[in-house]
Amino acid sequence: MTFSITVTGNGLDLHLPGFDQSAPISWHWLRDHDESEAGQDPDTKQRRVDTFSLGDVEPGTVTVDDGWVTVTWPDATVAMCSRQLLESVAEEFLATDWSARPELKPILPTDIVLWSDPTTRPDEIDLGAFLDPASDEALTLGVDLLSRYGYLVLRGDVLDRGTAEAFARRLGYIRHTIFGGLWDLAPDLSEHADTAYTSVHLAPHTDGTYSHDAPGLQFFLCLAAAPEGGESLLVDGFAIAAELETAEPETFVTLASVPVPGRYIEPGVHLRAERPVFRSNARGVLDQVSFNNYDRAPFLLPPEQELRFHRAYRRFAELAAAPARRVAVGLTPGDILIFDNWRSLHGRNAFVGPRHYVGAYLNHEDLESKRRVLLGS
Ligand SMILES: [Fe+2]
Repeated sequence: MTFSITVTGNGLDLHLPGFDQSAPISWHWLRDHDESEAGQDPDTKQRRVDTFSLGDVEPGTVTVDDGWVTVTWPDATVAMCSRQLLESVAEEFLATDWSARPELKPILPTDIVLWSDPTTRPDEIDLGAFLDPASDEALTLGVDLLSRYGYLVLRGDVLDRGTAEAFARRLGYIRHTIFGGLWDLAPDLSEHADTAYTSVHLAPHTDGTYSHDAPGLQFFLCLAAAPEGGESLLVDGFAIAAELETAEPETFVTLASVPVPGRYIEPGVHLRAERPVFRSNARGVLDQVSFNNYDRAPFLLPPEQELRFHRAYRRFAELAAAPARRVAVGLTPGDILIFDNWRSLHGRNAFVGPRHYVGAYLNHEDLESKRRVLLGS
C-alpha cells in the first residue's frame, strides 16, 4: 500500500488510502520508536531508546525515501522509522473506534501485604522442609507468604536441577513456553534473543507482556552466583497501584485503561498480546500488573490520550525504578527465589563473571489452588 506523509508542527500526519481521517504520529513517538541500531536491538527488536528520559521532544527535520522516514533532531541525532512500521500502526489506529474505550478504575485487593520498602519482607523458608513430602507445614507457610507478599526466598544447599523440578511439583507443574520448560539463564545469547541472557542491568519489568496469559509465577534456582553483582531486584507493582490510586488518580485510571501491546521476536517467532498496566478481573478487582518497556510494541493513540498515557507510563517507570522501594535478593548456590509475575516486577543488578541460574514458569491458578487446598482461602 502506498501512503502519503504531511509534516506538521506536532510530527507527521499519515494519509492512508481508504480512510477519511489521517493518523497523527508525534515527534515523541518517532524518537521513541527509532528503528536504527541505536534505538533498538537489531536482533531482538527490544527497545534501546531510554523512553523515560526523552522529555519534551522538539520538532526535527524529516526526510522521506522509499523505505524509511528519517528524522534529524536539533541535537543532530537521527531516528529512523520504516514506512512499513508507520503504515501498520496507522492502519490499526484508523480502524479503532476510540469513542468506545472505557475508563477503568480497579478495586485494590485487601488480603495482601503491600511493601514499598525493603524492610517489609516475608520470612525466608528452608527449602529442604518445603520439599519434604512427609510434612506440608513449610509448604503451607510458603504458599501463604508467597500469596500475600508476591515473592518468597527459600534457602537450600542442593545443587541439582532435580531440586528445581521437585520444587515446581510441590506447587503445580512447569509451564512450557518457547523458552522450554526448565531453562538455563547464563550470559549467553546463543539460545534466545533476549536481554535476560546477558549480564547487563535489567530494569524492573514483568515477563510475558507478549503472552495473553502471562506466566503467573517465575522462579530461579541458583546453581552458581556471580562473584560480583547479579542480585535480583523486586518491586511491588500492587503497592505502586495503591499509591497512585490515592495520590494520582488520573495516572491510576490511565494505566488501568490503555491497553499496551508487548512483543517477542526471534527467527520464526512473533508473539504479541496487549493489556493495560493495571488489569482488573471481571469483578473489577486489580488482578495483574504488566510492565516491560523493552518489549513494548509500537502503537498509536489519539494525541491527547498519547500525552496522558506517556506521562502516566513514565510516572510508573519512575516509581518502579526508585531504589528506596526495591528489594535486592542475593542468592547463594542452592537457593530459590519465586515471585508472582502478575504483581512483583523483577530486575537484576549487572554482574561480572559467571552466573548460572535455572528457572521456570508456573501458572497463577496453581498457586491459588494450593492456597485453597492448604489454607482454605
Ligand atoms: Fe524477566
